[in-house]
Amino acid sequence: MQIDRCICTQQTFGELLVRAHVDGLSLDQLIDDTRAGTACTMCRPYVCRAYRTGATVFHEVLNYDDEPAPTADDSTVVRRLPGG
Ligand code: FES
Repeated sequence: MQIDRCICTQQTFGELLVRAHVDGLSLDQLIDDTRAGTACTMCRPYVCRAYRTGATVFHEVLNYDDEPAPTADDSTVVRRLPGG
């Protein structure tokens, strides 16, 4: 099993991280702007983990209990992306 995107909005987690990087978005801003994680919400833990860690492909099922609430420090992953 490979999980790499928000199915509802057809955006990969990689695309979301690039968007966050280019536009300098916080996690909340990224979710608000792209709507990723706002329809069925099944991908929300993955969007949060992608933002927090920079991982864009997952092979395990995540739920809300697996992912801590985002903090201000989570923005550091955006600055670590190539070209950042
Ligand atoms: S899969 Fe992302 S909101 Fe449904």
